[in-house]
Amino acid sequence: MDTRPIGVFDSGLGGLTAVRQLRRVLPGEDIIYFGDTGRVPYGSRGRQTILQYARQDIRFLLSQNVKFLMAACGTVSSTYPSEEASRLPVPYTGVVGAAARKAVTLTRNHKVGVIGTAATIRSGSYAALLRDLMPDIQITAKACPLFVPLVESGHVTDGDPVTTLVIEQYLTELRDAGVDTLILGCTHYPLLKKMIGDFMGAEVALIDPGKVTAIETAAALDDLGLTNGRSEGGRVRYYVSDTPEAFQELETLFLGEYAGGPVEQIAIETY
Ligand code: DGL
Repeated sequence: MDTRPIGVFDSGLGGLTAVRQLRRVLPGEDIIYFGDTGRVPYGSRGRQTILQYARQDIRFLLSQNVKFLMAACGTVSSTYPSEEASRLPVPYTGVVGAAARKAVTLTRNHKVGVIGTAATIRSGSYAALLRDLMPDIQITAKACPLFVPLVESGHVTDGDPVTTLVIEQYLTELRDAGVDTLILGCTHYPLLKKMIGDFMGAEVALIDPGKVTAIETAAALDDLGLTNGRSEGGRVRYYVSDTPEAFQELETLFLGEYAGGPVEQIAIETY
């Protein structure tokens, strides 16, 4: 039994989609979330910058005495080396593994789509893992760099004309490829799930990386003997690198019924 909090981070608010799922599956666990709202997006940056940011995010969460780290960010998950993760003082997970494992259990025609930030798609992380798990898989991967700014600026309402146009631009290729499973390879994208689902068609399964990773995390904590033993009453503290007001304006969108809780600004560049 371990009463320390779980540490979750993202470049911005997208990782809150994972926090929402963690609250559902682990309602008694305390969580510390860091959203690097002052430096979002990560996905259009080079590898060294993403690594530097990820290391600072991790150092901050470790300073908060977390027992488990989740990079609730497809971009960091695709960039942060597994050897480095294995040397961290607490267990670490990204979101790529759980999403890829889910995709191979769902696809029937072995045609899987992956969408993500430019850095995520460039890294080939999802494609490499999917091929390991299912050698005859056909993958169509597409970077969708405008989705993160659209979500962070609240363009998520069903039928939003700008988002509708961008979805059509990005996803026509995936629809034409006949994928029956689509990995929403960035934790911001589940906010667009309804619109993406309407465009792709009801027969295409959409995978939410934060959701499947939260479920695997619950099992991992149990296996490692790291749960806190409570079935309710978990608290969340939020930290951001830009003003808390910007976070508070959008948190309901990402957290739904779990919105609320203290938000504090930190100087992440000092970590
Ligand atoms: N939520 C992050 C991800 O999953 C957003 C990336 C970004 O900041 O560009 O990749």
